[in-house]
Amino acid sequence: MSLPKRRKIRTFALLFCVITFTTFLFSYTFRDPSVYFFKHAFRLSDNFFSKGLCACQQCMTEVEDDPWFAERFNQSNHPLMTRENSVLSDETFKWWQWLQSERQPANFSDVVEELFQVIPDEVLYMDASPKRCRTCAVVGNSGNLKGAQYGSLIDHCDFIIRMNQGPTSGFEEDVGTRTTHRVMYPESAIDLDNTTSLVLIPFKTLDLQWIISALTTGTIKHTYTAVVSRIKANKDKVLIYSPTFLKYVYESWLEGHGRYPSTGFLSLMLAVHICDEVSVFGFGADQYGNWHHYWEENQLAGAFRHTGVHDGDHEYNVTLLLADKHKIQMFRGR
Ligand SMILES: *[C@@H]1O[C@H](CO)[C@@H](O)[C@H](O)[C@H]1NC(C)=O
Ligand SMILES: *[C@@H]1O[C@H](CO)[C@@H](O)[C@H](O)[C@H]1NC(C)=O
Ligand SMILES: *[C@@H]1O[C@H](CO)[C@@H](O)[C@H](O)[C@H]1NC(C)=O
Ligand SMILES: *[C@@H]1O[C@H](CO)[C@@H](O)[C@H](O)[C@H]1NC(C)=O
Repeated sequence: MSLPKRRKIRTFALLFCVITFTTFLFSYTFRDPSVYFFKHAFRLSDNFFSKGLCACQQCMTEVEDDPWFAERFNQSNHPLMTRENSVLSDETFKWWQWLQSERQPANFSDVVEELFQVIPDEVLYMDASPKRCRTCAVVGNSGNLKGAQYGSLIDHCDFIIRMNQGPTSGFEEDVGTRTTHRVMYPESAIDLDNTTSLVLIPFKTLDLQWIISALTTGTIKHTYTAVVSRIKANKDKVLIYSPTFLKYVYESWLEGHGRYPSTGFLSLMLAVHICDEVSVFGFGADQYGNWHHYWEENQLAGAFRHTGVHDGDHEYNVTLLLADKHKIQMFRGR
């Protein structure tokens, strides 16, 4: 036999082995390989002929293939407050008031009215369509970002959502440079540049009074602790996390674990409801199991896992499940 011929035979033999092995593997893993094949063939055609619900590769609003996700995800819940959706049911109002109880809360509807005289009253981001592909990065503050080099990956997203004081300056290579949204509460607030949206999570009526004050007169200097009396932020870009949505996240997604969801989990859920594709950075511990912030030198200084009010383990479980189901993409850093 000539050498080329022998090679051909060897190639065929190899191919035969691969096919047999693959078929075996498939029938072993999936009882009915033809079903598996068809399911994926259809998924591919969905993407290729853009019969999909969005213009990205993966669409958040695609719920049909996952009952767990479908059971929890409710697209008609608006994450951000407007005048219209600010009216809370008695049950929601009671629950929300209980989170950080106030002795003598101001009249909620009066405060909301005053708020929307300072910031715009708009329905934003609820524009999911087959033509939209909105990619979002949710950037947590975990020490696993240190040396992870995710900067350009993060900067390429449409929305870049950061939380509390997580800095970019000095950490650009790992965490990127742009910030489109920063999620904060009064006690964690920092100044922003003119292009970033401040997303305030209110846990009490006083928090809404604080944002009004911080953008105007600066009279409120104390909540349960000292807070900044004024904040640099573009008033036209201030957004308020809806208390109704907060309760939905707590009940549907956390099933009542912890006292209320953490800023990180609330930011993730904001992204899940306004984006088509979500990439998650800086969540969880670092490679040594340490919980600290990426800007802190001392790896134990900022242990923030067990804060009492949040169930970090459960939140992390739900986050991992979302990643398992390809609803979000997790970048675990180092
Ligand atoms: C989804 O949310 C809307 C608005 O809050 C509510 O009216 C509706 O009942 C919810 N749907 C489900 C299935 O829970
Ligand atoms: C809050 O003020 C509105 C009028 O602005 C009034 O109708 C409502 O009854 C007040 N609510 C409470 C709890 O006092
Ligand atoms: C910030 O942006 C607003 C428009 O959204 C503009 O009116 C204002 O002048 C800007 N301020 C600065 C300091 O650039
Ligand atoms: C998280 O998931 C693990 C593995 O599935 C499970 O053993 C653990 O009980 C879960 N923890 C919480 C708090 O749900």
